[in-house]
Amino acid sequence: MPRDTAAQARISEFTIRAAPARARLVPKPHGLTDVWAYNGTIPGPEIRVKQGHRIRVNVHNDLNEASTVHWHGMRVPNAMDGVPHLTQLPIEGGGQFIYEFDAIDAGTFWYHPHQRSYEQVGRGLYGPLIVEEAEPIRVDRELTWVLDDWRLTESGAIDESFGNLHDMSHNGRVGNTVTINGQILETVTVRSGERIRLRLINAANARIFGLHFSQLEPIVIALDGQPVSPHVPTDSIVVIGPAMRVDLILDMSHRPEARLSISDKFYQGLEYRLVDLIYADTPLRNRAPQWPMALPPNPLAEPDLGAAEHHRIEFEGGMMGTKMGMMHSGKVWFINGVAAQGHVMEPMLTLRGSRTYVIAMTNSTAWHHPIHLHGHSFRVLSRNNRPTKHREWQDTVLMAPREHVEIALVADNPGDWMFHCHILEHQASGMMGVIRVDGDGAQA
Ligand code: C2O
Ligand code: CU
Repeated sequence: MPRDTAAQARISEFTIRAAPARARLVPKPHGLTDVWAYNGTIPGPEIRVKQGHRIRVNVHNDLNEASTVHWHGMRVPNAMDGVPHLTQLPIEGGGQFIYEFDAIDAGTFWYHPHQRSYEQVGRGLYGPLIVEEAEPIRVDRELTWVLDDWRLTESGAIDESFGNLHDMSHNGRVGNTVTINGQILETVTVRSGERIRLRLINAANARIFGLHFSQLEPIVIALDGQPVSPHVPTDSIVVIGPAMRVDLILDMSHRPEARLSISDKFYQGLEYRLVDLIYADTPLRNRAPQWPMALPPNPLAEPDLGAAEHHRIEFEGGMMGTKMGMMHSGKVWFINGVAAQGHVMEPMLTLRGSRTYVIAMTNSTAWHHPIHLHGHSFRVLSRNNRPTKHREWQDTVLMAPREHVEIALVADNPGDWMFHCHILEHQASGMMGVIRVDGDGAQA
């Protein structure tokens, strides 16, 4: 990864403050919701820089408990990764910490705490982090939707049942209220002929989205921030597990005044309408623009599969997979037989710097798991032994029950990196490990 020394001069500074706040998540007559938020808003402020610039974020913690900030998907130096005790001391209530790192990759990322994240993220601590391409593709409008779901009571308060054994051992804390950028959005106005780049970020603890755009064909141009060859997803459904991001191109192909729904079809029988798109009465143009939509590649090291070292990882546990006795000790999920407690652990794998690794992962459980590796992006090579069509780069790969997934990466970012399920209740009850990458001096 070449580092432009001139980049040091182009520093973008931000300040974010984690603190209790009140938000209008649900409309009247429901009440306001007591949340935890960055700078008082859900989501927190957008951090947006140009690729190659340096980001400096002054984080203040005004919560009554310790916290950290993790820059999900960003390939940062290990000391900036925001993992309590593993990469830094937690930021105590009343304390602050300055994070600083280069925006190596363009793309859609996000930030969130890594301390008791099942509750801190669940109460609203998260925000978008957008790194613009040096020369962005042409679109008429860009939108960022941070998706979340909340478990709210009748009065609009957050249900306090964080971290209960049932959520931990099943599919996590799936809520009852879905928000886009912290609100229930009823409609979004679009124009005939308009091209929109929609950046989707799933900030939910546990909900997986499967978005269907009625008669519109969404074209996926990036996954987890990394460009992918533009394609319409299988069955035209955009699947986004927790922590994942998808960049879409939407060409608005209907007549003025048409109306269509975006619905979430992921969970069978629990389909619901997320939001409606309403066409304005005057078109922007008569047919979709012909502008190119492929994004320029990011500077990722290409795995050398011929020279790769191979490893296996197996995920086990959960309801229908773990003995109740184990579960009552808080150990519900296991990676290669080990259930994590806290972030400091013996590494489950030690990788040598700059070498290629192929990791064959087996989900031996009855549940979905979005599996995330810090500090790196990896190529998804195969699913159930069939090569993937796009060999997509991801930092979080959604594994279906019993699924077998092979990934490949070049271990080029030294340090101790978390590797975990991003269903935050699963992470908290064991589904986490550490992968160590030895330094080789190739990267500062
Ligand atoms: Cu989104 Cu370990 O993090
Ligand atoms: Cu999981």
